[in-house]
Amino acid sequence: MDNRPIGVFDSGIGGLTVLKEINRLLPQESVVYFGDSGRAPYGTKSKETVIKYTFQDIRFLQNQDIKMIVIACNTASACSLDRVKHSFDFPIVEVVQPGSAAAAKETRNNRVGVIGTPATISSGVYEKAITRINSSIEIFSKPCPMFVPLVEEGWWENEIAFKIAEEYLLPLKELDIDTLVLGCTHYPLLQNTIQKVMGDDVKLVNSALEVAKVVKEGIEENNNGRDEKVSPVCRFYTSDSVEKFESLGNSILNSKIHSAEKVDIERY
Ligand code: DGL
Repeated sequence: MDNRPIGVFDSGIGGLTVLKEINRLLPQESVVYFGDSGRAPYGTKSKETVIKYTFQDIRFLQNQDIKMIVIACNTASACSLDRVKHSFDFPIVEVVQPGSAAAAKETRNNRVGVIGTPATISSGVYEKAITRINSSIEIFSKPCPMFVPLVEEGWWENEIAFKIAEEYLLPLKELDIDTLVLGCTHYPLLQNTIQKVMGDDVKLVNSALEVAKVVKEGIEENNNGRDEKVSPVCRFYTSDSVEKFESLGNSILNSKIHSAEKVDIERY
């Protein structure tokens, strides 16, 4: 038994799509979530900056006495996993591998699209991970830098979101892909808009559920689940406006956030 919470972080509210699945699969677990909205987006920053931010985010959560970390951010996973994974003595789960495995399983014509932030796409992590699983899969990648600001603004399904999605995605659609990896944890919030542009024949891969399965397996393997007799607690922290975080967060989690707190993340 280990009653300590799981620490989850992202550059903003996108990681709440992962938290939602963790809550569904592991309802007895407590979670501490940190959304670094004050410094988002990460995906247009340099690798060194993202590595620095990732260390600070993990150190903040380490201070909350967590038993495991989930990097619920593709950009932080792509830029920093190699650097952080041996620097801490608790397990660290990331999002790229589970999403790649799901895409390789899903495709029928071996033509897979990957969309993500500029940092994630230029790192090539998805190409490496997917071709390691199946070298005959062809991968077509595209950075979509405007998607994260749209999501952080709450513009998930309006006309502007649709127009921007068309601009990014129509060239990908022409490449006859049958599977599209949402390689950024913000993008599932644009799922309806993206599906509308891509059409119903293209399967969208949202790695959140696969990540939650990896977390569950890790807890079972280490035998460090929580005592089910004690109610779990979810705590939320942000580096920007608490009100904005709560309002967008509640529409993702259906009113789970009541008292988020602001953090000065540069102190960590
Ligand atoms: N949710 C982060 C990701 O998965 C967003 C990155 C950003 O802030 O640009 O990549």
